[in-house]
Amino acid sequence: MTVQDPNFTTLADELKAHTGRFTDKQFDWKAFPSNVGFDELARAQMRYIGAGGSPKVGDASTLKPDHFTLSLIYKEPGRYAACHSHEIEESFLVIDGALVVGWERDGEVVEVNLGPKDMILNARDVGHGFRVDGVEPVLMTISVDVGKPLPPVYLYHPKEHPAELARAFGAEPGKTLKFDPKGDHPLQKLMAGYVVRHAELETHWENAGFTRKIYCGPGGVETDTCRKEMLGIPSRVGVKPFSRDVEDAFLVLEGSLIVGWEENGEQVEVELGPRDLVKTPAGRRHWFRNNGAGHATVWYIVGSAEPETVTFEAA
Ligand SMILES: [Fe+2]
Repeated sequence: MTVQDPNFTTLADELKAHTGRFTDKQFDWKAFPSNVGFDELARAQMRYIGAGGSPKVGDASTLKPDHFTLSLIYKEPGRYAACHSHEIEESFLVIDGALVVGWERDGEVVEVNLGPKDMILNARDVGHGFRVDGVEPVLMTISVDVGKPLPPVYLYHPKEHPAELARAFGAEPGKTLKFDPKGDHPLQKLMAGYVVRHAELETHWENAGFTRKIYCGPGGVETDTCRKEMLGIPSRVGVKPFSRDVEDAFLVLEGSLIVGWEENGEQVEVELGPRDLVKTPAGRRHWFRNNGAGHATVWYIVGSAEPETVTFEAA
């Protein structure tokens, strides 16, 4: 059993402090110092859990990370993020728009086009960048593990490389390959293990009456950091309280979701709308329920890649 956190007077206060409301937050256009002075790199970040690659770790409106960070990134057509690498794993889940992600090795680049609800987990130490070639802006959520939060190493930043080379993530003309899971190139083969297409991902129906698509963890992309799933929760479906030995977070993408906490017989609830989040600390009994008329789609992150320990029971 967990003990009430002494920093909070009531359980309701503690739940409120672990809730990230889209409308309480702001997109920060100055989150990434390396983009300053380069209009083509402009992007905005909204931080929910941790700083996620931005050095702005002191943001008081951001929840403290344990095993993962979570933020939204907004990028407009024609802009890109310069190719870089780091020692941490990082996932991009597209919410809106079309996102091109490139992986680079020895001057060759493989590019994949991701649509809404598609994801890529960027492998450790593999050069990667992204670009918006489409007609609409991209909104995506980025999560990084907090294992070794070293700053990114830029491989093809426009301050050191010609603009066109940087925009192509380091590929000279003719050196870009398309993503192809059946392709022969080693980088195509590697990337194939890290890209998740929503439409191609198996849908598991839980006995409790909701669906799970497993993006990362056993059954999805192999990782040793966090499980990432997309939940589909029909109207009037909910589960009984459960707890984990790590933290988890619900980010609502569509519809609404009630998240409840229980402590010493007391229960409190919060209703989330689109782009609202609750992070629940390890050990806290919690549950969810969709009281709306429509279904809820929820991005769900668990702070461990170990096999599932919870058996969900319908409430
Ligand atoms: Fe990255």
